[in-house]
Formats: sequence, structure tokens, C-alpha cells
Amino acid sequence: MQLTPEENAMLSGTEGVAARKCMQILVALGEIYGASRLVKVSSVQVSGVSYKNLGDAGIEFLEELARDGRARVKTTLNPAGMSLTGWREQGISESFAEKQLQVIDAYRRLGLEISCTCTPYLAGNEPGFGEHIAWSESSAVVYANSVLGARTNREGGPSALAAGLTGRTPLYGYHLADNRRPTLRVDVDAALKSPEDFSAMGYFVGRAAKDGIPYFRGIRSAGIEELKTLSAALASSGSVSMFHIEGLTPESGAGAGKSETISFTPTLLAETVAALNDAGTPDFVSVVCPHCSLSELATIARLLGGRRTTREFWVCCSKEVKRKSDEAGYSRAIEGSGAKFATDTCMVVAPIEELGYKVVATNSAKACHYLRNNGMRVRFLPLEQCVLEATR
Ligand code: F3S
Repeated sequence: MQLTPEENAMLSGTEGVAARKCMQILVALGEIYGASRLVKVSSVQVSGVSYKNLGDAGIEFLEELARDGRARVKTTLNPAGMSLTGWREQGISESFAEKQLQVIDAYRRLGLEISCTCTPYLAGNEPGFGEHIAWSESSAVVYANSVLGARTNREGGPSALAAGLTGRTPLYGYHLADNRRPTLRVDVDAALKSPEDFSAMGYFVGRAAKDGIPYFRGIRSAGIEELKTLSAALASSGSVSMFHIEGLTPESGAGAGKSETISFTPTLLAETVAALNDAGTPDFVSVVCPHCSLSELATIARLLGGRRTTREFWVCCSKEVKRKSDEAGYSRAIEGSGAKFATDTCMVVAPIEELGYKVVATNSAKACHYLRNNGMRVRFLPLEQCVLEATR
């Protein structure tokens, strides 16, 4: 792989141990995937923040890099395993919190922004069309490639961090125009009436598309809420990193070409929703995944309508969106009900299985997928019904 003099300097160690280690990771990746060179990135988003996933080995890795490493480009963080300020109210143990705060402290010393959100594009890290970036949260990768037209592979936590500390990533995969063409045409025959319908469709299509690129036909409109939950679902049941929607997403203009075709019918929608529902009454309710937009917080405040919660109810969002919600008056209505803002975290990356909960109601197919992997039972319900369950 061709390296510039500056990149060679990093690789040789003259710019410090962390830069050398990061360059080694990127060069190894580039060689595996046949990249001809590295490309400069304008934005990085790092996953691998929850102590639940990182463990002590992860802390050691970060501490080592933090000795002399420093982010060279805007680098933001995925959610952590707890709210960084409200963890006691969430029931998180002192021992978990101590480790989680060590993780955050290491990232802070590395110069990362402690944003702790899976929707960086709603919290000040929104790259433009055609920009090369290195993101690792899978739902945000799909959103960035498909909706923003930015270019990123689905990075792992270490390779994204290496990109942040060097400002570069190997030029292969979704960074190249030829690899951004559809592989599967999806004729949408079902009427999609809510973000949850988009989530269910994404869950079904992700399985069919595997690591390919679906091209949806028959969708007339979709807002941020529909697009972010579709992105999340596609990346959870499959390894999708990008999709197109005819007439809506910025790179859909070339059409579906000769790709294989499937249909998403009303029957498949109903079957997918049914398959995401286990038996049992929810003892924990958590919305929204990916992290709430301001508009979703407005809806939750309205749906609560002054009622009190009777079950643990987490509303997951970034600190940035929560700040806007405070200004708009939605936070008062939400917190006044007894619901808790899960800023910096979510029901999947927090250790809720250790808190004794068994059945989680949520409005995201992605969350259902990972909660089941964590041994929980799930109910996949529309947002309105989730609020009803929380206040029943
Ligand atoms: Fe975000 Fe957690 Fe869902 S990290 S995408 S809210 S599983």
C-alpha cells in the first residue's frame, strides 16, 4: 500500500507509540482488503464504549493508547453502559460505574468528544455528501452512507479509533463509487404507516440482503425517524452498510440495475412483527433505538399526557437532543411522569439483565434482536403502545 511521508512517519513511530499502533492497524486492514492507499477522513465515530462489551482488556488497550495518542479529527463516541450523570437512578452498581468512568476518562484523554450517542448526525457530527469518514456504530454507518451520502465502511471500534488518532482510513469498500451500487431490488407492497413498520421491513430485508445493498421501490416519503430505524434494523438482522430508496436517497439516481428482486408484502410485515414478540408482560419499557430525535421526544411528552409511569421507563437520547428538549419544555413533561432520560446509553448496551428485568417493551426491531441475544424476552410495539405499557 502506498503511504505518504507523513503516514510513513506515523508508522515508523516518530509521532509516538499510539500513532504507530494505529497506523499498523490501518495498514494491516488495507492490505487484507486490497486498498491502494489511505484516505483522509473528516469525521470519526467510535463504538466499543460500554464496559459491558469492552471488559478489562478493552480498558487496558485504551489506557495504552492514551499515554501519547490524540485525536486528529472530529471523533465522537457511541453510547456507554450507563448515563454518565444519572447512573445511580438507573440502578447501575458502583463497581460497573467505576469501570465505565475509567473507559470514559481514557477516551477523554485521547481527545474524543464524550457525545455517547448512536445518532451523531443529530448531535453535531453530520458529514456532508461525498465526505470520507470512519464510523463504527452500524446503524449510523447505514444512515451516513445512504441518507447523507457520506462514505464509510462498517468499522470495528479499534479501526475507527485508529482512524480518529491518525485522521485516515484505508481506501476500499464503500469509499469507492463502484461498491455503492444496489445488489437487491425490494418492491415495497406493504403500506408503511409508522417508523415501526420501517423497522420491521428493515429487519426482514436485512436478512435477505445479507451484506448487500437493497434498493427500495414504492416508498413515497420517509423522515429522519423512519430512516434511522430502517438503517438500524437492516444492520442488525444482516450486515447491510447502505441502502437506496428510489427518488429519496441521494445516490438512488442510477436505479436498481439488474439486481435480484424481492417483494415486501403486507403479510410479510405482519409476520415480521409477530416474530418479534415474545410472551409475557413487560417489566421494563425503553424507547427509542437509535437514540430519539427531538420530534420523538415531543411525541413521547404528548403521549404521556400528564400520566405517571408504573414501570421502569427509559427514554434514550443524546445529551445534545436532551438539551434541546429541555429548552422546548418536553423534558419537564417526560421526567414529571417518572420516566428516566437514558442519555449516553440505551437498553442494549447498559447491563439491564443484571438489574433483574425479564421482558422489555420497545419500538425497535434492532433493540429486540440484541435484547434477545442478551437473554431477555421482548415485545416489539409501536411507540404509542410502549407509552401505554409504561403507564398501565
Ligand atoms: Fe443506539 Fe442502543 Fe439502538 S446504541 S442503535 S439505542 S441498540
